[in-house]
Amino acid sequence: MRRTAILFGGIAVLALLLTPATGAATSRGAARAAAATAAAQQQPEDSPALNARGRELYQNACASCHGPDPNGPSYYPTVPSLADTGGAAAVNWAVRTGRMPWKDNKGPAIERGEPRFNDEDIRALAVYVGKAVGDAQIPDVDPARGDLQRGRELYGQACAACHGMNGAGAALGGQNIAVSLQDVTPQDVAEAIKIGPGQMPVGGGLADYEFGTADSRQEVDDIAAYVESLRTDPYNRGGAPIGGKGPVPEGFVAWVIGLGVLVVAARWIAGRG
Ligand code: HEC
Ligand code: HEC
Repeated sequence: MRRTAILFGGIAVLALLLTPATGAATSRGAARAAAATAAAQQQPEDSPALNARGRELYQNACASCHGPDPNGPSYYPTVPSLADTGGAAAVNWAVRTGRMPWKDNKGPAIERGEPRFNDEDIRALAVYVGKAVGDAQIPDVDPARGDLQRGRELYGQACAACHGMNGAGAALGGQNIAVSLQDVTPQDVAEAIKIGPGQMPVGGGLADYEFGTADSRQEVDDIAAYVESLRTDPYNRGGAPIGGKGPVPEGFVAWVIGLGVLVVAARWIAGRG
């Protein structure tokens, strides 16, 4: 009788301890469902006024190099036609990160800088070019939906060879530089993976990447979570000799579960005698 009570108590404790894990799995499923719904909403909002504004900005700030029609040829062999660079996402990335419009002749690795347009005008440019070249998709990313551990794994497989595990970046030869990722935003990560700027391949080296599918969106969220950790956690960047908070709480949990199981087992054995 007493033995049964203790056994049930032990099971209840174990069940309680396991509940958070199950809860997390369910919310991850919910996140996937939400991501699938969001996939239908990735087009930036569009309006004739926004499109007209985008055309005006394009003619003033971009056409002198990229040509009068974004979908047509550029004026110079060293300037890509925007028909080939990744549509609205590429414009959004290049203008948001201050790379475009190009200021000077610094070679292929264009430096990040302050954006020269406000958010509304950047959106207008992305809408106009996206429409003109037939790719208006801008990725929607949320590191909070991502799984940090999985992100670290994927990053190690796909990105670390060029950007380094700590995101510090590396020289790729010539004037090509795999830039530092220690201060980039999740949006930069998702857009770079979609468009493959410069020497970076489309998909960033992820096997089976396909823009907008539920699996690829999850992988991008996972990687964005890891890249965010490089920005917010100096231990991951390799900047501080100590300070990883991981093992302490994890060890504590293992200790409590382990001890709980031992106590239950001991009492059960004692109860048998
Ligand atoms: C002075 C010439 C010049 C102007 C003006 C200019 N660009 Fe560019 N653009 C370039 C060159 C050169 C590249 C190729 C950079 C490289 O080597 O990756 C480029 C690349 C790009 C790319 C591809 C980025 C990548 O790496 O995938 C986009 C998108 C782009 N430009 C958009 C724009 C937009 C939008 C404007 C106007 C707001 C603009 N550019 C104005 C010269 C220019
Ligand atoms: C073959 C080397 C290579 C691989 C693999 C690669 N990248 Fe890149 N990445 C680059 C280069 C080169 C640039 C700079 C492009 C430019 O400025 O035109 C870049 C740019 C970026 C940027 C833009 C940073 C900024 O300042 O806006 C991000 C974000 C990025 N990469 C993330 C990733 C992620 C995440 C992966 C893995 C899924 C990855 N890269 C895989 C070479 C690589």
